[in-house]
Amino acid sequence: MAFIQILIGSIYGGAEQVAEIAAEQLRERGHNVALNTYARAEDLTRDADEILLLCHSNTGSGELPDNIQPIYLHITRDYPRIAGRRYGVINLGDSSYSTFNDAGRMLDEAFADLGAVRIGEPLVLDACSGDNPETLTRDWVKAWATLL
Ligand SMILES: Cc1cc2nc3c(=O)[nH]c(=O)nc-3n(C[C@H](O)[C@H](O)[C@H](O)COP(=O)(O)O)c2cc1C
Repeated sequence: MAFIQILIGSIYGGAEQVAEIAAEQLRERGHNVALNTYARAEDLTRDADEILLLCHSNTGSGELPDNIQPIYLHITRDYPRIAGRRYGVINLGDSSYSTFNDAGRMLDEAFADLGAVRIGEPLVLDACSGDNPETLTRDWVKAWATLL
């Protein structure tokens, strides 16, 4: 059983819904999951064994939603000790934007730059793909959970 904190960044609630689906799937597999919509610096370092799952959308021109910005700023300005920390990535974007998933890559790179270790490949949900985000999320979580 793993302890997993899902750090949510959302403008219109899409990423929040996806995070809830992921949480439900992970709990069904016996994991202890906390959802965090307003993550702050201290939430990152409270428990070094906790796995972080970044679940956020893109906004503006490749920017992070306001409610996950503090995490990016903390990582890039304060350099918290997260080397070796395991994390996963779920991004929501829209490929009709030239800045498709730029914020997703930016946050992922910021974690990797400090030595955090990503579990598996990111799930990138493209709003204009026509795919069902719920199905994609369920399938991704099923595979991701085997890597924990
Ligand atoms: C004003 C606005 C700006 C957006 N900017 C981007 C962007 O730069 N890159 C991208 O990939 N998607 C962008 N999107 C698409 C959203 O990330 C996508 O619709 C996502 O599913 C929204 O999730 P949310 O409801 O959690 O905010 C934008 C959407 C809006 C409405």
